[in-house]
Amino acid sequence: MLGRTTNGGTRVKRRIRVGALLVCLALFFGLIPARAATELPADPALRALGDQRGLSIGTAVGAGSLANPAYAATVRTEFNVVTPENEMKWNSIHPEPTVYNFAGGDAIVAFAQQNGMKVRGHNLAWYSANPSWLITMCNDPTVTRDQAIAVLKDHIDTVVGHYKGKIAQWDVVNEALYDDGTLRAGCGTGQTPWGKMIGSDYIDLAFQFAHAADPAAKLFYNDYNAEALGTKSDAVYNLVAGLKQRGIPIDGVGLQMHFDLGAPSAADVASNMSRLNALGVEVGITEMDVRLFLPAGDAQLAQQRRVFHDMLATCLAAANCHTFVMWGFTDADSWIPSYFPGYGAATPFDSTYNPKPAYFGLRDALGMQTDETKVVEAENMSTKTVGASTLGGWELSANGEVGNYFPFPGGNTTITVVAKGVQGGGAWPTMDLKVDGAVVATFTVASSSWAPYSFTTAAYSVGHNVSVAFTNDYYAPPQDRNLFVDKVSVGSVVEAENTEVKSVGHAVTGGWELDQNGYVEHPAQFWTGGLFNFTVVASGTFANGAWPTLAVRIDQVTVGQVTVSSSGWQTYTVLGVAPPGRHRVSLAFTNDYYSPPQDRNLFIDSFSVAGAPTLTP
Ligand code: G3I
Repeated sequence: MLGRTTNGGTRVKRRIRVGALLVCLALFFGLIPARAATELPADPALRALGDQRGLSIGTAVGAGSLANPAYAATVRTEFNVVTPENEMKWNSIHPEPTVYNFAGGDAIVAFAQQNGMKVRGHNLAWYSANPSWLITMCNDPTVTRDQAIAVLKDHIDTVVGHYKGKIAQWDVVNEALYDDGTLRAGCGTGQTPWGKMIGSDYIDLAFQFAHAADPAAKLFYNDYNAEALGTKSDAVYNLVAGLKQRGIPIDGVGLQMHFDLGAPSAADVASNMSRLNALGVEVGITEMDVRLFLPAGDAQLAQQRRVFHDMLATCLAAANCHTFVMWGFTDADSWIPSYFPGYGAATPFDSTYNPKPAYFGLRDALGMQTDETKVVEAENMSTKTVGASTLGGWELSANGEVGNYFPFPGGNTTITVVAKGVQGGGAWPTMDLKVDGAVVATFTVASSSWAPYSFTTAAYSVGHNVSVAFTNDYYAPPQDRNLFVDKVSVGSVVEAENTEVKSVGHAVTGGWELDQNGYVEHPAQFWTGGLFNFTVVASGTFANGAWPTLAVRIDQVTVGQVTVSSSGWQTYTVLGVAPPGRHRVSLAFTNDYYSPPQDRNLFIDSFSVAGAPTLTP
């Protein structure tokens, strides 16, 4: 401990942790090549995983709910597309014949744009949520078909025109069919006014008007109970086939998926997706939820997880499914309890924004490896049998490049490629390491044994694509390879600048690298809410008449500060409060620079958050 003291009990624990950390360091520096650099990327959110797979993954949102910071934070972290749950429906957006109210829809679109998300517009013609003036019109026998067409056209021109260029997909016609496959038409409950006032070709007209108003938006027919095979999905199929035959601009079919635990089989859903693909349309899962009878126990939550997982996996496996939207993401804010008395818990987050088993089912479907390694496999069978790469991984693309999306924890970050080469044509193979397609390092792989090749990046803080390009691997027909990649990993640098820190306590194995502001952030994120206890083990040096001070931050906002008034390792506890949700914790060194050459007088050994795993460098 180099002159620093601690008590005996703590020392034992620390020895164990020192041992574990030494192993980590050994792995980090490639001393154990076959399992080198097993640093886990931070848990990616659904959004990052969706981006990686080219999937729009999202939720219905309410403009009012977005004012809740915890709600908004989860939406922006987890999703890349939103659907206004009610704000673009006729009764909200067109409450009087000559009055349009865009406030709610505009707020959601602005939120989406600020956060780089897409928007699904919902909807332009439906049997429900119509303003009373439209029902009055429907009941007026003097209203002509042409007058009704003019009203529908004015609405679509105005609403789609208002959002032109801002809406990726519109649900143009919503729920036009009964469960027996017949067309809804009439002015009463559950009946579509347009079917009565215009006739069945209102559907053609609505799509044509929408396409004229925003040719770039993808146009969907959206319905429920038509996800798999059966009378209603046959009727939807026939409806879409007719639209396509008549040259009506329809791009997709929304499969709502308001399910309970008796959800249809994934195989039937896949068949339906496939036959719609053959018609030349996309499908999207547009309103998924899985309601449970309350109170829901572990068995029900596990079954719910399976349904969410299977439907997302089915979408990902389909050639024409690129959208997965849920009808609300938190049990705090779902339409289910008021429409299905006795039911609830229908979404992947509980009412305090904590992820439920269903959330992890979605992540699993998106290919998030829960294993400690992220594996890249070369095509060569011998590679597949090495180390953890038996788990499966990436194939080489035709141009000899492998890569994947990694979350970056922030701060300097080391990318490690474990590779081996075969000398061919008098040379060892070379490989380029790329971040987002740009070469950041080139290595000669001059060893026929697995070895780590590492490069430390600047402070990337968000996700990036990391790839390895095989620059000279083809050395003889039939295009055999002389370069093999076992793994690519991305991990934070775990060294403190000051050598003294490295030799103290379990910081002997490294500490956090400070950025220029004397700030460290742990890559791990945790889920919790309410009051937190942060426990920091730190030591300081009295300098310039003062002990150093240390700020604890959550999501980069200081929630507490302590004076580190001991040169021995001491435990400091800070009480913080934060909304429920996913957070990052960090420590800020508020006065640690006391003399050139910018040496430090504050040392951090570890910190942890009550209820969350201990975070150590
Ligand atoms: O905004 C008013 C509020 O001012 C009033 O005090 C309150 C009193 O009941 O009603 C509020 O409006 C409610 C609105 O949701 C907003 O909360 C309506 O009564 C209620 O009928 C409406 O329900 C929505 C329903 O569609 C009808 O538009 C649900 O939130 C919404 O989840 C549901 O969504 C539909 C999709 O659009 C289409 N597919 C099925 C899905 C579920 O039914």
